[in-house]
Amino acid sequence: MLELRGLKKSFGQLEVLKGIDLQVDKGDVVAILGRSGSGKTTLLRCLNFLEKSDAGTLSFDGESFDMARIGKKDIARLRAKTAFVFQNYNLFLNKTALQNVTEGLVIARKMPKDRAVEIGRRMLERVGLSDRESYYPSQLSGGQQQRVAIARALATDPEIIYFDEPTSALDPELTGEVLSVMRSLAEEGRTMLVVTHEMGFARHVSNRVIFMEEGEIVEAGDSRSVFEQPRQERTRVFLRNVYQHLETNEAPSPEG
Ligand SMILES: Nc1ncnc2c1ncn2[C@@H]1O[C@H](COP(=O)(O)OP(=O)(O)OP(=O)(O)O)[C@@H](O)[C@H]1O
Ligand SMILES: [Mg+2]
Repeated sequence: MLELRGLKKSFGQLEVLKGIDLQVDKGDVVAILGRSGSGKTTLLRCLNFLEKSDAGTLSFDGESFDMARIGKKDIARLRAKTAFVFQNYNLFLNKTALQNVTEGLVIARKMPKDRAVEIGRRMLERVGLSDRESYYPSQLSGGQQQRVAIARALATDPEIIYFDEPTSALDPELTGEVLSVMRSLAEEGRTMLVVTHEMGFARHVSNRVIFMEEGEIVEAGDSRSVFEQPRQERTRVFLRNVYQHLETNEAPSPEG
């Protein structure tokens, strides 16, 4: 469904992505792991053209695009098939939960308002927030705000959803409700690319794992083998450190 070849990106002298290859099939849930600064967010932003790539070819649904030269029209067409969930939710603060979900449908998709509201309500129900449709973001917890953002992502029925650390701004007690919505999306066969530090999610919900370091993919494989038998020493060190950190700092999450 999605194939990326040779993605490169520098910020000035700093080469942040050094030639990333990636294939995502329909129904894949791919967890992207790696230390801070390894290029995970930049990878997602380049994939969704929030950042301009220096080189790379993106094939989506059989069409190929030169990422360094792609035009606005193709970007708009590709974005219509994707959705992005940000770490900090990116909700409109002056709009209600329902309006946040319907906004894109009415404005970008030119959908009649009553049809958009119908879809918006269905999506809020999907993430367990039917009773909060007229609340503003400031009246919602972080976990609820992120679930509104997920409802908004689902509203356009995207072929793939990119998540950039969707739970890392949340207090631990709110992380579970967002992860359980994401788990249910995985179970219904949604294609997702998820940057995460949630090892339970990466291990038990995603079917594939990518481990990045300094702008390169060090290891990629099915979740089970990456966690149980990592091939690269650098992956082993990373996983060992993460698990030590978990053991010393917090109790295992219900997802793990
Ligand atoms: N707009 C920018 N201008 C200059 N440098 C940037 C920019 N965005 C990212 N970088 C640099 O690129 C590198 C990769 O950043 P990126 O945000 O992709 O890392 P990350 O893996 O998502 O890290 P984290 O886990 O902390 O979110 C970092 O060294 C960062 O400082
Ligand atoms: Mg990041």
